[in-house]
Amino acid sequence: MRQMCLLHVAGMRMSAPEEGVTLELYDRWAESYPPVPHNPLMRAEQALMRRLWPAMSERRVLDLACGSGRYARLLADAGATMVLALDRSWRMLRQVSGAAAVLGSMTELPFASGSFDAVVCGLAVGHAPDLGAWMREVARVLAPSGALVYSDFHPQAAAAGHTRRFRDSQGCIHSVPHHLHTVEAHRRAASAAGLIVEAVEEVRAGIELREAFPGSSGIYRRWHGMPVILAIRAVNRC
Ligand SMILES: C[S@@+](CC[C@H](N)C(=O)[O-])C[C@H]1O[C@@H](n2cnc3c(N)ncnc32)[C@H](O)[C@@H]1O
Repeated sequence: MRQMCLLHVAGMRMSAPEEGVTLELYDRWAESYPPVPHNPLMRAEQALMRRLWPAMSERRVLDLACGSGRYARLLADAGATMVLALDRSWRMLRQVSGAAAVLGSMTELPFASGSFDAVVCGLAVGHAPDLGAWMREVARVLAPSGALVYSDFHPQAAAAGHTRRFRDSQGCIHSVPHHLHTVEAHRRAASAAGLIVEAVEEVRAGIELREAFPGSSGIYRRWHGMPVILAIRAVNRC
């Protein structure tokens, strides 16, 4: 039976005005953000994430910055014994099913050290201004040999001016603030937090991302080979 219960409301601090903007935008986006990949980019990203996942059966797993909970749902279906789904947007969390929903910040996790065998985080680390602090916090809640699998908008795409955008119910287009973290910065942050990076992979326009949509052939021609998604698997070495 799919159900949602609110387990915990962590004390959340808004450290920068930009964080408040990000939260407000995701609250607004939530109504059109179903818990399934809802565009070609997300479908290609999810296929890559699934390829990088360790076996989830009998595991305690955290879907970090879960949004409406598409990964939480897949993790429950994959046989995880415990799935927690954490996000800062209550409007996003309302849609989570198959997992316990936790309202909280991904940089101050309300969990004891070593609580999870795996942490999955889709398309959210670019909202952390301090990648090192984010990585340390994730490493803290990972059990020994636990795995972190995460994705984000690729730094090369962000550097080329691409942004994460959506259209709200009034038809206004919004761009969500994003912190560009290079691939090298990800490697450094993981290593400093005691994680071993096992895989660094990309989704490239016109190659792994090639699903047709209106105007796609021109877009894929123009941006052919541009990495648009970065995905990383790292394990806790202690
Ligand atoms: C692009 S959505 C991705 C949602 C989901 N992981 C997915 O892949 O479908 C990014 C999510 O990160 C959440 N988020 C942003 N900053 C956060 C923070 N500091 N702590 C927790 N969640 C955060 C947003 O509320 C939003 O739901």
